[in-house]
Amino acid sequence: MPPRIIGHRGAALDAPENTLAGLREAARQGCRRVEFDVRLSADGRLVLMHDTTVDRTTTATGRVRELLLARLAAMDAGARFDAAFAGEPVPSLADAMGVANALDLWVDIELKCDPGDSAAAAAALVASLERVRPAVQLPLVSSFDHTVLAAVRTAAPGLPVAVIVPTLADDWRAAFGTLGAASLHVGERGLTEDRVKPLVDEGIEVAVYTVNNPGRARELFSWGVAGVFSDCPGAIAAAL
Ligand code: G3P
Ligand code: MG
Repeated sequence: MPPRIIGHRGAALDAPENTLAGLREAARQGCRRVEFDVRLSADGRLVLMHDTTVDRTTTATGRVRELLLARLAAMDAGARFDAAFAGEPVPSLADAMGVANALDLWVDIELKCDPGDSAAAAAALVASLERVRPAVQLPLVSSFDHTVLAAVRTAAPGLPVAVIVPTLADDWRAAFGTLGAASLHVGERGLTEDRVKPLVDEGIEVAVYTVNNPGRARELFSWGVAGVFSDCPGAIAAAL
């Protein structure tokens, strides 16, 4: 599979999002790159979770930031997706990095952060990455939140970072430059060639989320985008 297809939340169409099973499913589909979301627990550890609460993706309830890592690890993050995945835990970032390294997956860690938590999130990220053996390739740290990316830059100057924006009309230029971002990740909706091509020509690495339609992926690649995030990376690769 071309490395430019990135499994979104693992392979969110085919396995529960942001779980170890999702990482394994992405690898099984031939994917070499994955993205997942992380958030702080009550005890300052990073866990894989997209939403501010566990309500949508687990059989439990509550705000991630108010739950201890041990509680989160004991939750079922698989059964809501499919009974076949019942018992799949909410993984810590360190657990996920261990599995990704074992599967030789390149990782984009998307840091989701409450206001005021930037320094704690950056510190937790560094601590988690120290817990796992070094990957061949450093992970990328991405976020919609420019403040937390700046905190990551301070805590771990060697880690590449990426700026995420819902649309190209959003204000990203200044942060992109100040942070020395490696790439710009932008939402797929409404993206047009006349907005994307000039950025590609400028030498900016653009990756687009979330692309589950092979025709759209083909179009984006024809404009020179560097990567697409997909919930079904195997199907996209097969169609391309
Ligand atoms: O990192 C790209 C993409 O995952 C951002 O959107 O809401 O799926 O985390 P979201
Ligand atoms: Mg994400």
